Amino acid sequence: MSLVSFGQGHMAPLRAKITTLTIHEKKLRHEPITCLTAYDYATSRLVDEAGVDMVLVGDSLAQVVLGYDNTLPVTMEEMLHHTRAVRRAVRSSLVIADMPFGSYHVDTTEGVRNAVRFVKDAGAEAVKLEGGVQRVDLIKRVLDAEIPVMGHIGLTPQSVHKMGGYKVQGKDLGGIERLVKDAIALDRAGVFALVLEGVPREVAAMITQEIAAPTIGIGAGPECDGQVLVFHDIVNLTFAPAAKFVRRYADAASLISNAVHQFVSDVESGSYPSDEESYHLPKETRAEFEAILRRKQLKAYSR
Ligand code: KIV
Repeated sequence: MSLVSFGQGHMAPLRAKITTLTIHEKKLRHEPITCLTAYDYATSRLVDEAGVDMVLVGDSLAQVVLGYDNTLPVTMEEMLHHTRAVRRAVRSSLVIADMPFGSYHVDTTEGVRNAVRFVKDAGAEAVKLEGGVQRVDLIKRVLDAEIPVMGHIGLTPQSVHKMGGYKVQGKDLGGIERLVKDAIALDRAGVFALVLEGVPREVAAMITQEIAAPTIGIGAGPECDGQVLVFHDIVNLTFAPAAKFVRRYADAASLISNAVHQFVSDVESGSYPSDEESYHLPKETRAEFEAILRRKQLKAYSR
C-alpha cells in the first residue's frame, strides 16, 4: 500500500481501484463485498478511505439528505449533483449512481439517455435500477451503451405504493417464485451485482447460490455475497428508529448536537474566540497602529 496526498494536505493510503471485475472476482473467491451509500464529498471520502468496495449514491438521498418522506420525489438533476460531489471524493471504491423514480419508467430510450448522463456528466462507473423481469430490455440497452448495471429486487422502495408500504417480499411460495424468476432474469441480462432488499434470509441464500452475479443484501441475511447499508443509518443521522437489519456503529447525532451546543455556549459566554484563535497585527504595523490610537485618544481628551 502506497501513500498518496490529495485534498488539503491529508495523507490517505491508496487502495487498488475497485471495478466491476473486482466485485465479480470477490464472489468467486467467497470474499464478502462491502457497499455503503454516500451523497457528499466529506462522507464519501471517509467511506472510500475506510476501504468500502462500492459507494452507492442511493436515491435514499431523498429521505436522509433532502428530508422527503420517500424516495419518489428526488430528481435526475439532484442525483447528478450529488453523484458529482461523490465522484470528486472517491479514489478507489466503485461509484454507482441510483437511477431515480421516473428516470427510466416511461421510456427505454430515455432510461438509457439518463444512465449515460450519470456516467458522462457525473462520473459514475455504474448505475443501479429497481425491478425484475420488467426491466430486462432496459438493462440490456444500458449494457449495450457500455454501462454496468446493478439490479435491485425484493423490497424496492420506488414501488412503495404498489407494494402497499415497505414490506418484506418473498414470504410465501408465490412471492419466492417471483423473486427467483426476477433474479435469474437479471442475472441472464448481465447485471454485475444484484441488491436483495427486505428478503427472508433463506430465499436470499438460495438466490445467492443460484446466480452468477454477486448478491448484495440489505435486510436479506448473512448468506449474500455482500452487504449494503445507508450511511445515515449506521451513524444515527436519520431521526427515526432503525429498521431490524440496521446496525448502528456511531451516534453522529449526539456528537454533532454536543458540538453545536458547545459552540453556542462558548460564543454566548465570550470564551470563543480566544486570543490564540484570533489574528494579530505584525510587529511593524502594530507599533504604528498603536501610535495612531494614542494620537486619537489625546485628541479626544483635548476636546
Ligand atoms: O437508495 C438506497 O440507499 C438503496 C439501497 C440499496 C440502500 O437503494
